[in-house]
Amino acid sequence: MVRAAIVAHGGAGPGPDRRANLIPCLERAREVLELGGSAIEAAVEACVILENDPVFNAGTGAVLRTDGSVLTDASLQTGDGKLGFVTCMHNTPNPIRICLDLLDEEINGLAGTGARDWADERGHKQAHVVGRAPKGQIGDIDAEITGDTVGVIVRDRHGKIAAATSTGGCSYRPAGRVGDVPLPGCGFWAEDGLAVAATGIGEAITCALLSNRIYERIRASDNYSLESLNSTTKSTIDDLIDSKHSVGVIVLGPSGEGIGVSNTDMPWSTWQADS
Ligand code: GLY
Repeated sequence: MVRAAIVAHGGAGPGPDRRANLIPCLERAREVLELGGSAIEAAVEACVILENDPVFNAGTGAVLRTDGSVLTDASLQTGDGKLGFVTCMHNTPNPIRICLDLLDEEINGLAGTGARDWADERGHKQAHVVGRAPKGQIGDIDAEITGDTVGVIVRDRHGKIAAATSTGGCSYRPAGRVGDVPLPGCGFWAEDGLAVAATGIGEAITCALLSNRIYERIRASDNYSLESLNSTTKSTIDDLIDSKHSVGVIVLGPSGEGIGVSNTDMPWSTWQADS
């Protein structure tokens, strides 16, 4: 048996005040684990808590697209090779639950109305997502360019790991735009006891294949101390991301607590079981 652990973030940029909103998410993940639930179940249930909190750009609080629509993306990956991701889903406040259903299917990913139809067939009820307009107008000095995402990584007592991410996308982007969250290796990567989840401007994260690059560099270092996870993650962000793009990452390895690193003010929190 290993020590279970959780790490969660609330997006690139909102700052430490938002950390309080992560507490219910960590508590929910702990509860699921303490009741004998798996890393997958704990990550999904914790992600749902964040999707249901309107302060986050995910689920209920998803930022509006330029046409006024509210479309949600999510992904779920396990360290033992299961994957599910969805993008541009309408009327879907909890897209992470659709990802969960995809884990045991022949297909990994779904998009748009086809994704919504597939969810309907499996009994996931449609629900209007109110969303929120970004602050300001594009071009304004104080326009809110946000690529916030929520993310949770959980390691259970059996050493299994799962990474869940969810977002409403990035502000001032059109309805069909695909960001990093549903793209494997970009917004997330989990494999063999090590997982990475990203937040921030999706285009920058996608161009850098950021989560997979961080994963590969940590593997190459073969050092999972918190100090090494932090320095490898930070140097990879610095190498691959122009600092004008807000980006943050959480990482959880095969032992120890999780870490959070960002080039902006990312609220994040971690917990590890005593034994
Ligand atoms: N990171 C969320 C997005 O850009 O879609």
